[in-house]
Amino acid sequence: MIEKKIKCPSCGYETTIQGKLGESKKITCPKCNKKGFFEFSKQKGTKKITDNPMMLSVTSLTKSFNGKKAVNNASFSVHKGEIFGFLGPNGAGKTTSIKAILGLLYPNNGQILIDNQNLMHDEKKIKEQVGYLPEKVAFYENLTALQNLEFYAEMKNANKSQCKPLLKEFGLADAMDQKVGTFSKGMNQRLGMARAIIGNPSFLILDEPSSGLDPRGVVFIREKIKTLNEQGATIFISSHILSEIQAICHRVGIINKGSIVAVDDISNLQNRLQLRPKLVLTLEKIKKDFISAVEAIEGVFSVKQEKDALEVFCRKDVKANVVLTLSKKKAKIKDIQTMNPSLEEVFMRFTEADTV
Ligand SMILES: Nc1ncnc2c1ncn2[C@@H]1O[C@H](COP(=O)(O)OP(=O)(O)OP(=O)(O)O)[C@@H](O)[C@H]1O
Ligand SMILES: [Mg+2]
Repeated sequence: MIEKKIKCPSCGYETTIQGKLGESKKITCPKCNKKGFFEFSKQKGTKKITDNPMMLSVTSLTKSFNGKKAVNNASFSVHKGEIFGFLGPNGAGKTTSIKAILGLLYPNNGQILIDNQNLMHDEKKIKEQVGYLPEKVAFYENLTALQNLEFYAEMKNANKSQCKPLLKEFGLADAMDQKVGTFSKGMNQRLGMARAIIGNPSFLILDEPSSGLDPRGVVFIREKIKTLNEQGATIFISSHILSEIQAICHRVGIINKGSIVAVDDISNLQNRLQLRPKLVLTLEKIKKDFISAVEAIEGVFSVKQEKDALEVFCRKDVKANVVLTLSKKKAKIKDIQTMNPSLEEVFMRFTEADTV
């Protein structure tokens, strides 16, 4: 049993609660009666990614175009060893933030530190330290894929011998002597990714890496990102493919209309929004006492009847108990489905208004 001092988000009242590792506890504030949940971290004493030193720190970043704020007072940080997902609707300010981080445009206000250095006016140094996949990948169209990569390797003071194996790895073995101007969108994107990792940068910024890729390409890039991260690279990735972000990112930042509306790991965001796994049990016949028996189980938050099915929102660890309770009541279960909350729900909720 562990003890944790918590503060009510509504009235600020401090109280101490007890629970087991991994337990999610329903709490009612003794002062203002606000209801909520607290999840005790699964592994006690394990180092969190946010304990690592910062690779990127963005403070109060603001950038306006023609008097209109594209990014408004945005602050967030990415820690060494992290895969950080940067999400937001079209026009939210992701690419503008990324360009400011890379020194490709000058912000109206704010501070950006990469590995604790202010490189805002040192584009050359940023290029040496950071691998970048831009949203719109552009190459010298009259040069071949290999010539383009070798030119870039030279600029980065990286070993040119990396280029051919990289092109092979990214599925461009047969196209390495083809002029890039004749490349398809997906081939261009693959070449862009290969260029981003030339010189083995310790920090990679990828603006929509899966854009234009076929399904196999999407999986390949996802696995490559994971491998690079395992080898030590810190990765900042903007993407609209939420399943991909959910699968690989340690934490996400959500930007909406230029403002950061959330930064956290996905399960904490789900908890903040009280998104719970849903257990859907299709029964031969639903009786009233089935519902009241399930409602009485500790860890069940709500039970709803939907035609011949019971929809039960509950903690992960009580799902088996729900099934057992219904069996004891002689309910005939025809089907069981578990629906885990997705990042899509988190994204929709955080971007439906300016803030949550
Ligand atoms: N060079 C520019 N001149 C004028 N407005 C710009 C410029 N670049 C970006 N904007 C505006 O800034 C806002 C944010 O654009 P940005 O490209 O950062 O969005 P985004 O989050 O990357 O969107 P998407 O998901 O579509 O790529 C938009 O309203 C866009 O029109
Ligand atoms: Mg963009």
